[in-house]
Amino acid sequence: MSRKVVHVVGTGTIGEPLIGLLCDFKEDLGIDEVSFHKNTPLTTDRSKVKSLMSRGARLTTHEEKFDGFNAIGLKPEFQTEEAIDRASVVIDCTPKGFGHANKKRYYEKYLDNTEGFVAQGSEFEFGKMYARKINDSALVHGEDKFIQVVSCNTHNLSTIVNNLALIDGEDNLIEGRFNLIRRSNDVSQSTNFVPSPQVGKHQDNEFGTHHARDAALLFKTLNLDLNLFSSAMIVNSQYMHILHFHLKVKKPTNIQKIIARFDANDLIATTDKVNANEVFSFGRDHGHFGRILNQTVVSIPSLNVRNETEITGFCFTPQDGNSLLSSIAITEWFLYPHSYESKIQCLAPFFFDEV
Ligand SMILES: NC(=O)c1ccc[n+]([C@@H]2O[C@H](COP(=O)([O-])OP(=O)(O)OC[C@H]3O[C@@H](n4cnc5c(N)ncnc54)[C@H](OP(=O)(O)O)[C@@H]3O)[C@@H](O)[C@H]2O)c1
Repeated sequence: MSRKVVHVVGTGTIGEPLIGLLCDFKEDLGIDEVSFHKNTPLTTDRSKVKSLMSRGARLTTHEEKFDGFNAIGLKPEFQTEEAIDRASVVIDCTPKGFGHANKKRYYEKYLDNTEGFVAQGSEFEFGKMYARKINDSALVHGEDKFIQVVSCNTHNLSTIVNNLALIDGEDNLIEGRFNLIRRSNDVSQSTNFVPSPQVGKHQDNEFGTHHARDAALLFKTLNLDLNLFSSAMIVNSQYMHILHFHLKVKKPTNIQKIIARFDANDLIATTDKVNANEVFSFGRDHGHFGRILNQTVVSIPSLNVRNETEITGFCFTPQDGNSLLSSIAITEWFLYPHSYESKIQCLAPFFFDEV
């Protein structure tokens, strides 16, 4: 059997915890080796790279950058293309546009000896859209080689639609309206903080923002056409994104039924908390290096049902946790198509029922 090598490109907000998770659960996930691409040799990032290497991940970079890394005491083992060539699955975690550029420049060359390539939320049209437990049934072996894990907020929005509307029938949703109240930037980031709440534009005439558009396209992989519309705004906080949802459904429902649905889904957490800092803090204390891997954390006190068919509420987005879970799930799907569901259960301690 060939060695299972997973290669992560990027060590940012998504890449760094992903490399760590893959290393920590390597055995349970049936992965022989984890390698990663670090793009820039920075002394400010040296501690993080050393820590990842001490957990078993192998450093790679562009050949012309080897000297720069060696000069700061970090020894890359493979150059960019060698690392991709050795990999069974490549997970691109770079910012907007780079995933597409990497696909054209490198990934397409290694299609024949790689099981699959994965990119993140910003790489629209990189490949088939995917979110764990939403459209696993749309994946086709041998055909889907490029996958785009949808953004963290799209995971949240899609999970709400799935579990409040579609669970009672594929035609049960009349319409879904959403407002993504986004935190400025991650706690790891020092740029792009906003001084005050900032409203967003509706760049998509039909869907509003990319969140509803991406969710609609995600459900389209299941041959569903949904009426979704989202708005987005940014607040001057680093804690968590919050999703406000308003769904109109055909079949009558009530709060008890809704809570029972949430309780039955292992990827949905509920909470009596209403403050983002308290939810964030729970993740810090009980998650994997601060990350909880649920799709969403629904605030129970915020729920309301009007006329038995209009459901409103707020939920918190585990911003990188849900993308991390989907990235690992799709990697395992590439590596172990028949047993990936059971293999990823090693991560179950980080899916919480209650926060
Ligand atoms: N942040 C979140 O909470 C979140 C949640 C879900 C999804 N996502 C998605 O995840 C992706 C990455 O976001 P992020 O927040 O993790 O970004 P980030 O923190 O800015 O990290 C970007 C990483 O990409 C590396 N990089 C930049 N240009 C590169 C290139 N040309 N080739 C290889 N590596 C390169 C950087 O390396 P150097 O530092 O070495 O230069 C850095 O490690 C985006 O698609 C985003 O939409 C983010």
